[in-house]
Amino acid sequence: MCGIVGYIGKSHCKDLVLGGMQRLEYRGYDSAGFVFVNEKAACLSYLKRTGTVANLAKELSVFDEDGFSGIGHTRWATHGVVNEANAHPHFNCKGNIALVHNGIIEEHESLRNELIAQGHKFLSKTDSEVLVHYFSSLFDIYKSVKKATIELVKKIKGAYSIVVLIEELPDQLLVIRHNSPLVLGRQKKGFFVASDVIAFSDKVDEFAFMPEDSIAVINKNSIQLLDFSGKSLLPVWQESNLAFVDVSKDGFEHFMLKEIYEQKKVIDKIVNFYRLVGTDSKLSASDDLGNALKYQLDIEYQDRIWQQLGLSLKTVKNLKKINLIAAGTSWHACKIGQFFFESISNIQTSVYLASEFCYMPFFKEKDSIFIFLSQSGETADTLQALRLVKSHNVPTVVITNVPSSTMVQESSGFLPMQAGPEISVASTKAFSAQQSILFILANRIALELEKITLQEMKSAEEDLFMVSQVLEMAIENYKWEISNGLAEKYSAYDKYIFLGRHISYPMAMEAALKLKEISYIFAQSYPAGELKHGPIALIDETTPVVLFSALDEIIYKKLLSNAQEVKARSGHLVVFAFEGQNELIGLADYAFVLPKVNPLLAPLACTGVMQFFVYEITKRLGRPIDKPRNLAKSVTVE
Ligand code: M6R
Repeated sequence: MCGIVGYIGKSHCKDLVLGGMQRLEYRGYDSAGFVFVNEKAACLSYLKRTGTVANLAKELSVFDEDGFSGIGHTRWATHGVVNEANAHPHFNCKGNIALVHNGIIEEHESLRNELIAQGHKFLSKTDSEVLVHYFSSLFDIYKSVKKATIELVKKIKGAYSIVVLIEELPDQLLVIRHNSPLVLGRQKKGFFVASDVIAFSDKVDEFAFMPEDSIAVINKNSIQLLDFSGKSLLPVWQESNLAFVDVSKDGFEHFMLKEIYEQKKVIDKIVNFYRLVGTDSKLSASDDLGNALKYQLDIEYQDRIWQQLGLSLKTVKNLKKINLIAAGTSWHACKIGQFFFESISNIQTSVYLASEFCYMPFFKEKDSIFIFLSQSGETADTLQALRLVKSHNVPTVVITNVPSSTMVQESSGFLPMQAGPEISVASTKAFSAQQSILFILANRIALELEKITLQEMKSAEEDLFMVSQVLEMAIENYKWEISNGLAEKYSAYDKYIFLGRHISYPMAMEAALKLKEISYIFAQSYPAGELKHGPIALIDETTPVVLFSALDEIIYKKLLSNAQEVKARSGHLVVFAFEGQNELIGLADYAFVLPKVNPLLAPLACTGVMQFFVYEITKRLGRPIDKPRNLAKSVTVE
């Protein structure tokens, strides 16, 4: 994971690099480091600290030296504990070459041993440090940056984006990309490089994504781009009109809370963005004519949505199988989406965990598509799965919140999530946005296949509007009780079981993930029907069982039996139920009761109040809610 920023040019680099690093903290925040060619001393100067970029920046602010070329790194530890020695930059033995790295170097141990045998001294436990020692020994042999780099990439395996600063070449940055994103930026006064364009989007006139397997040698006036054999490549510059939106907490105590409250707006925005063209006035003015006219407009719109997805109308009409791939919360949204595609579009759907998918045999199926869900569009597991599917010439569709992400660049088409920047590491509004988009997409496919009518499509949109209100209302209804006693009481338990069935099971998985991720309380989710096959042995009064109800009558009855099984063993039961489910509500030690909605949208209705409950529990425990330990917002290592 980790975030990299580099600058070289006519301006002082310290603030530019630190500013970029702050914007990349979502990629890791356990330690940070900055190195530059000190203009006064004409040597490399650096500072590394554990903790956030702000921590590092505070110390650097009293250090009045600066330079015109510098690189920064914000770390998410993979190899070696969190300490200053393992923070980047890393140096060669002479201390005159500095390197930052994002990714993982495979088989680094053998290279490290080779280098140690040659006399190199290592100061860290990281895989990254081998890169700088090896590069340094190659540079000693070849005396050429390009030759040394070409030899370096022949030897190393894994995923890497690397930036190197060499003391004797102060006017040059060396940049290498393989399986890990890097983007270049240029302005009149100099050049930037970073893991994500947001690091410098408002400071450059143009940016260019570095192609896979490429090397850039940047000096103050130009960039030379090469492939791994040394052949010249042309960067594809794009105008940068991506203003950086400095997202604030808007008075909320945490980003997570703000983002929980943004969900109604996000769902409404998604429905408005994706809704069919045409006005209801046409329908009511002259129903028949209105319908006919509107349908023509809709066909055009439908075509546009398939174009955006990179799918021909023929592909959509012939669809026999949908595959959904994601990680974490996005995977839970896919598990809910499966019910949408199977019951609304009547298309068989499989859901895969991205981190497992690449290691299973790939069966190419006719008339199938793969949809990848990722808030960030950078998750390495999901990206690798996308690359694998793409290599089989199967359509790859991405649903992401970040249109400039690597997944969008590499897929055949994408749908924007429209959730706005999600800053808190715990995904909240992205989860609601994903459920909403999958619901709309399932209805759109069903409309195209004539499985539903235009009127049913419209009422699906109305159902989403209604759910967005329920989601917000449920938070409002329970806010006082949660904040005044409930959260305190439930923060005292140190383990939880979450249960669901059918469409409410992914919701139970998501709730368990949310709780463990930010509160560090142990939480385990199970399909409620599995309870009797083992986990029931865990039931006692010290482990709350949180059960998510469903609105399908048969599923509800089955869940009711599971709730009775818990109570019969003196379990402590909390339920998320719906109005009228009195038997279940009666059994519970505490019940959150929500108005009835479209049964397929029941998880979405519960999403807000579940997140708020978890948030408040965590607040009582005094955890760093927006930046939980050991995590990062964007998981860019496999
Ligand atoms: O950016 P992505 O949606 O691909 O991220 C996937 C997971 O890493 C992410 O959802 C993670 O599980 C969240 N931190 C959960 O809140």
